[in-house]
This record gives sequence, structure tokens and C-alpha cells, in this order.
Amino acid sequence: MKRLLTTALLTTALASPAAAEDLRSLALDYFEPLPSTIPQIADNRVTPEKIELGKALFFDPRLSASGVFSCYSCHNLTTGGDDNMETSVGHGWQKGPRNSPTVLNAVLNIAQFWDGRAEDLKAQAKGPVQAGVEMANTPENVVDTLNSMTQYQEWFSDAFPEEAEPVSFDNMARAIEAFEATLITPSPFDAFLNGDDMALTDEQKEGLELFVDKGCTTCHNGVNLGGNGYYPFGLVEKPGANILPESDKGRFAVTETAYDEYVFRAAPLRNIAETAPYFHSGKVWDLKVAVQVMGVAQLGEEVSDEEADKIVAFLHSLTGEVPEITLPVLPAESATTPRPDI
Ligand code: HEM
Ligand code: HEM
Repeated sequence: MKRLLTTALLTTALASPAAAEDLRSLALDYFEPLPSTIPQIADNRVTPEKIELGKALFFDPRLSASGVFSCYSCHNLTTGGDDNMETSVGHGWQKGPRNSPTVLNAVLNIAQFWDGRAEDLKAQAKGPVQAGVEMANTPENVVDTLNSMTQYQEWFSDAFPEEAEPVSFDNMARAIEAFEATLITPSPFDAFLNGDDMALTDEQKEGLELFVDKGCTTCHNGVNLGGNGYYPFGLVEKPGANILPESDKGRFAVTETAYDEYVFRAAPLRNIAETAPYFHSGKVWDLKVAVQVMGVAQLGEEVSDEEADKIVAFLHSLTGEVPEITLPVLPAESATTPRPDI
């Protein structure tokens, strides 16, 4: 009875405008709302021509050796910007080693991949095209493929008008980066941060308060609630090998310093309710379980069922609106287009 009363009082308290304002001001100490315009990118001015070209490339399976896999295969924009698989399946039906993170809002992460090994989206985009378990292609074959279609030649000239040879592997990556910069998904949480008291339910407000009080914000902060720092997965208590496989040492492979063993980028949490399964291993399918794993592994604390439900409710407020994207009509291949290599 006492517990019920406390909950009722808390709920009433959180529903009051003054309490909402206090909670907002607390949240703004840790988080930022999404930008209201497409972010500009250092060394790669985002223009409408680049965005359109990048969109076509993102959807084009002919960037892969087999002609089967596009970026969209593993980053499906209708299902949270990922593939909802434990770990991705790519060239020759091979299973890769890691779970596919969402491309939504990825432009706002300080670096790309679970271990942050690509400094930005243009560096990142060259990886999957060449990765044997993903698209298994070569830069030369990609350039030959694109050059074999006059429509692509025109689109590259429009997107990179100042260049003598606009069709290049680097420019493919730049155009994809420009398209990805448009994938910003404003959510009810942004509306709350921007002043709308009613944008979050009372349960979500309680969850937000718990998220801050428990210290999740130590690592999940900033505009993407993560994606901006590196921490050991298992800072306090290492999860079992069923969740944290021993073979993947995370940032250790990037920096080769013992200090970075099992260190990963704090995962960005926008749209997290849409992107199960969780963790770089993709071993956890239930968001509530992922929250409780984090409690023990990162904070040394059992998060109760009731608390985890509230935190999960808050995490649902991070599900945003995906921008409207019209399907590109891709150029038809010509007689000189390299044949699919399956
Ligand atoms: C990671 C974009 C193709 C699977 C990423 C990330 C981005 C991205 C932006 C990093 C996101 C983050 O760190 O938060 C692209 C683009 C592609 C492409 C532009 C096409 C050129 C693919 C394909 C697959 C795939 C075809 C599956 C076969 C993955 C996986 C990761 C990843 C597993 C995480 C890898 C790691 O951390 O080591 N991708 N992707 N991607 N993508 Fe893709
Ligand atoms: C991953 C939530 C505390 C660092 C995750 C994921 C969730 C989450 C849901 C999975 C993301 C995904 O699969 O895309 C929480 C909550 C916390 C909390 C609710 C508080 C109870 C922390 C703290 C740290 C941290 C305090 C740093 C000390 C990380 C890292 C990952 C991660 C490094 C990536 C793990 C991996 O490699 O798979 N967090 N987190 N988290 N979090 Fe937390």
C-alpha cells in the first residue's frame, strides 16, 4: 500500500509542469536534442546532388561483387536501419562476426563501428564494400561498374562538378556519407528536451530519471546517448562468453594496447527499441534483459524488473521518425557492366 502511494505521489509529482521543467533541466545536463537541419560534414559539403547520388549508391546491390548485397541489405531503413540479425549475413551467405548497428543518426557518432575504427562515415563506407564477408568487391571493380552506366557518370559529375574524374571510390564514399547525414530521426525525447512536457509519458519520465540516477549517463550521453566514448564492456563485471565472446577484443584490434581489451564504443541508444538483438555479439534479444545486463556489467548493480521496465519505457521515447525516402530508380546496367560474381 505504502509502495502504491509512493508511486502515485511520484507520478503526480512528475506530471506537474514544475517537475517536468526540473527533469528537463537535469536531462539537458547530459543530452542534446537532434539538430533541426542536416549536419554539415568536415571536408564533404552536403549538397542535394550528393545526397541523391548517395541514396542511389546506398540502395545499389551492384556495389557488391555478387550483385546481391547493398548497404540496405544490412541497414534496412524500414526496420530501424539495421538487419535485426544476431550477426550479419553477407557474401556467399557468410555470417560476419558482429551485429549490424543502425545507420540512423550515425553521422552524429564521433567514430564508426563498434570499436570506432573508422573516423567518419566516408572512411566507414569503403569498409563493407571490400569486406570479404560483406560485399567482397574491389575499388577497381566498383569504379568500372559505375563508369559502365552513363546515368551514374552524370550523377557523379553533378555531385562533384569541380572534379576532372568524378567517378571514384572516394567519391562513392563521400556521396554515401552525404545521404547518411540526412538520416536523422527526431523522437518524443527530443520534443521533451525542446520543451514539450507531454511528449513523454509518466513512466518514461520515471525511466529517464532512473537512467540518470543510476549512472547510465556516464557513458550514454550527448546527442546520440552514446556513440561518443569508449569503455570496457564489463567495466565492473565481465558478462559471460555467451554475451561477450572471448575472440572479439574490441578496440584492442585498433590500438593494440592491453588497456583496450574488450573496450567498445558506448552504443548510441537512439531507436534502440527497433534494433534488437543487442550488443556487438547480437546475443540478447530482449531490451529489458540488455538493460539488466548493463546494470551488472557496467554499474555493478542489479536493476530490478520494475526499474528496468521504466528504463525500457524511456528508451522507447528514443524511437524517432525516419525521414521520408522515395525509392531511387537505379541506372540500368550496360553491356560493359562487370557481371555478378557469386
Ligand atoms: C557498420 C554503413 C554495408 C554490416 C556500419 C556502420 C555504418 C554502416 C555507418 C557503423 C555504424 C555505427 O558504428 O554506429 C554501411 C554502408 C554500407 C554498408 C554505407 C554500404 C556501402 C553493409 C553490409 C553489411 C553490413 C552489406 C552486411 C553484410 C555491418 C556490420 C557493422 C556495420 C556488421 C558493424 C561492424 C563492426 O563494428 O565491426 N555500416 N554498411 N554493412 N555494418 Fe554496414
Ligand atoms: C551497450 C543501455 C550503462 C557502456 C548498451 C546497450 C544498451 C545499453 C541497451 C545495447 C546497445 C545496442 O546493442 O545497440 C544501458 C543502460 C545503462 C547503461 C540502460 C544503465 C543501467 C552503461 C555504462 C557504460 C556503458 C555505465 C560505461 C561504463 C556501454 C557499452 C556498450 C553498451 C561499451 C556496447 C557493448 C557492446 O560492445 O556490445 N548499453 N547502458 N553502458 N553500453 Fe550501456
